[in-house]
Amino acid sequence: MDLFVAEEVDALRAEIEEHNYRYYVLDDPNVPDAHYDRLMTRLRELEAEHPELQSPDSPTQRVGGKAAKGFSQVAHEVPMLSLDNAFSEEDMQGFNRRVQDWLNSSGEIEFACEPKLDGIAVSLLYVDGVLVRGATRGDGTTGEDITANVRTIPSIPLRLRGRGYPAELEVRGEIYMPKDGFNALNEKAAGAGEKTFVNPRNAAAGSLRQLDASMTAQRPLQMCCYAVGAVKGGELPSTHSDILDRLHSWGLRINAESKVVQGLDGCLAYYQQLLEKREDLAYDIDGIVFKVNDIAFQKRLGFVSRAPRWAIAHKFPAQEEMTVLQDVEFQVGRTGVLTPVARLQPVFVGGVTVSNATLHNADEIERLQARVGDTVIVRRAGDVIPQVVRVVLEKRPADAREIVFPSACPVCQSDVERLPGEAVTRCTGGLVCGAQRKELIKHFASRKAMDIDGLGDKLVEQMVDEGMIADLADLFHLQLDAVADMDRMGPKSAENLLAAIEKSKQTTLPRFLFALGIREVGEATALSLARHFIDIHALFDADDNALQEVEDIGPIVAGHICHFMQQAANLASIDALIDAGVQWPAIEPAGEQPLSGQTVVLTGKLELFSRSEAKQRLQNLGAKVAGSVSANTDWVVAGLGAGSKLKKATELAIEVLDEQQFAERLAQLEGQS
Ligand code: IVH
Repeated sequence: MDLFVAEEVDALRAEIEEHNYRYYVLDDPNVPDAHYDRLMTRLRELEAEHPELQSPDSPTQRVGGKAAKGFSQVAHEVPMLSLDNAFSEEDMQGFNRRVQDWLNSSGEIEFACEPKLDGIAVSLLYVDGVLVRGATRGDGTTGEDITANVRTIPSIPLRLRGRGYPAELEVRGEIYMPKDGFNALNEKAAGAGEKTFVNPRNAAAGSLRQLDASMTAQRPLQMCCYAVGAVKGGELPSTHSDILDRLHSWGLRINAESKVVQGLDGCLAYYQQLLEKREDLAYDIDGIVFKVNDIAFQKRLGFVSRAPRWAIAHKFPAQEEMTVLQDVEFQVGRTGVLTPVARLQPVFVGGVTVSNATLHNADEIERLQARVGDTVIVRRAGDVIPQVVRVVLEKRPADAREIVFPSACPVCQSDVERLPGEAVTRCTGGLVCGAQRKELIKHFASRKAMDIDGLGDKLVEQMVDEGMIADLADLFHLQLDAVADMDRMGPKSAENLLAAIEKSKQTTLPRFLFALGIREVGEATALSLARHFIDIHALFDADDNALQEVEDIGPIVAGHICHFMQQAANLASIDALIDAGVQWPAIEPAGEQPLSGQTVVLTGKLELFSRSEAKQRLQNLGAKVAGSVSANTDWVVAGLGAGSKLKKATELAIEVLDEQQFAERLAQLEGQS
């Protein structure tokens, strides 16, 4: 038995060391943190149960990674320790109880709460208020001297502000990369064909460990302080929160979310609040750090080997987990787009069990180099659909299978096509395709379209599968008995549904046009179309040029609309809907307005109004605002720095107004309209 345990311990140590090396030395981990945490927890458990297996070189006996070569070493006068983790409310109760027991107190303890930033722990040494050294945590005892690198980070003061700081002050905190900076950096790297960073923390680590500090200077790094180390020649306040405030007054950044709470309940409430706020924060956090606020209590509580007794990190549910890609299926959307969906071995991530994740399109599969059978890392952050973010190539089995896009639609067997320049592959079946039909009907019934209350996705799918509806208009001919016989329906709910369908017949032209599901015709475009054409038959007859006269419609959308209107089946479908009783109030044609029939071009920088305000006010007066000057242009407004358009207007002898004249003309015309 013990032999097996010894083997497991060896295997765990070897695996953990490998992960440590990738994480700390290469800045390129290949497993999620949660996986690493579990290995460590298991190893600690085994070592506690079998003390004979303990060993000084076990990964449990050290805090972090080894110092990288290339930087000189810094010995930490006060060790930079780690934190114990809590993963549940019970763990937090245990922590609170241990603190109370140790202090022999039954009262509520005051805790300072801070987000646990996901970055790199560093130490900054200020001597007489001047930054003299920056160091990484390293293994907690010895770190790397990164003074040149930290000096490039704008939020780190090179000299403290104010007065009253100790002669020697070591400040500790986290250097991290905010999410938007990380995304921009990765986009740039991807654009240049360079390797991207796995997450903001790795990007921060990689940026800090640049031997050439001018590289660090180009990275969007931030610092946030959360503790002090060695302090000489001066006094600090007697609570953690007051110390942070003091650091702040000396020009150091502290976390704006920090708060003091009373007792366990206060901690749990704070945890919940931040968990809800997590996605909206500008930076990644992986939990909350709770610290006993009273420094005298902290001193009494002291440390156990690698972590203080007075603090704990209450971790959030992991947003990344490792699992196996078991299969890939292709889903067909409303416009026929085939989306590859990863079927995963179910895994608990981001607080839910995930068994499907999107693979987006063929380019994404290529980028990930994913194959069926691969071990993959799935990410689920907030309410975003789960994504496969990485493949663990080292774990690829010999029989991993390439992912092949089907050449025929998996639902209707029609041909699929991938047009040049498009990232997506589409089924060409149109409404012959059951999947597209289902998606179209769901869209038609949706709130912003025909708004049919109670016609949910499941019902639509069943109706199509059972052949109750083949075309949109069939919705308006459903029989009460047939609906009442459907799954989870009864006479009453069937009646309600039919009443809702009946009610939806009274609609508006913009809603109706949107409901038709024409490619790239969203709500705003549908509204512009309705206002422009007023009568749906005028829209049927519009050609490409006529369509491009509509506000905000360019050649691509015009092409989609023309294509739609050219299909006899679509026109028949619209007729059938109207025959079934779908109707809308006539749109009043706008009367003659001061600028009706006139085309105006805006160019250069306007200072009195924003571009959109100027455009809106012109349109309100009936003008068409065009993007380029032509013989059809009636007048041009030239703001600061106007160039080629102004030149062309002058050549064509078109009237040009400067901004002041334009403002006066607007005021005059608005008075008149
Ligand atoms: S206090 C003795 N506060 O978490 C206690 N640590 O697992 C020292 N971290 O190495 C740490 N945010 O990199 C503390 N508000 C915070 C933190 C924080 C992130 C990191 C830090 C530390 C690790 C411990």
